[in-house]
Amino acid sequence: MNTPILSPSMMCVDPLKLGETLRTFGSGGIEYLHIDVMDGHFVPNFTLGTDYGKALHRITDIPLDYHLMIEAPEDRLGWFDIREGDAVSVHAEATRHLQRTLERIAATGAKPIAAINPATPICMIEEVLPYLWGVLVMTVNPGFAGQKLVESTLDKISRLRGMLDARGYESIRIEVDGNVSPTNMRRMRDAGADMFVIGTSGFLKTSDAEEMLRGIGECRQIR
Ligand code: DX5
Ligand code: ZN
Repeated sequence: MNTPILSPSMMCVDPLKLGETLRTFGSGGIEYLHIDVMDGHFVPNFTLGTDYGKALHRITDIPLDYHLMIEAPEDRLGWFDIREGDAVSVHAEATRHLQRTLERIAATGAKPIAAINPATPICMIEEVLPYLWGVLVMTVNPGFAGQKLVESTLDKISRLRGMLDARGYESIRIEVDGNVSPTNMRRMRDAGADMFVIGTSGFLKTSDAEEMLRGIGECRQIR
């Protein structure tokens, strides 16, 4: 089993405390910064844009974990400041050419992740396993923070983990995004997830540095 890693959701960070929060993340050994990009088409919301990732790259060394909730991501990868060591996820539902898009991500030196919504079956990514660093299993329908877990996704994580391991892809990560509370994180970990997007259900429910650091510490207890 891969060691669990944390990817806090930057759309849930208090913008007035960005600098302080990044320092807290540094102290907490945070592995990635999750950047939710929504285009108002693929999901019913607008969030962080291309300049945001560029700005973060200037002020922190923590790699970015771009979550592109946009139509035709293959045409727009070049819009983003993607650096070697970043992770980039594209939705299987949003591109007609998933394999080619994953290859284009890998060509930038970033880690390719295929994302699937709660209603999308795992067979949608079955043919692209050789091109994946990770699979992002949405545990809520994407668009908004503060939603409730779609319970059926827990069994989906287990089945996906089983499929990956059975085919020799133990190293492919399973990232989970949506309502990752401490309780749900334990359940998702038991099901086989190993990369956790933490938002308002987790340590980003606060903007207080000490409280946040305690929350990060609690996540680290989940092995
Ligand atoms: C979904 C978003 C959210 C959010 C996570 O589109 O990615 O999942 O940032 O935070 P909470 O904990 O509010 O679900
Ligand atoms: Zn996300």
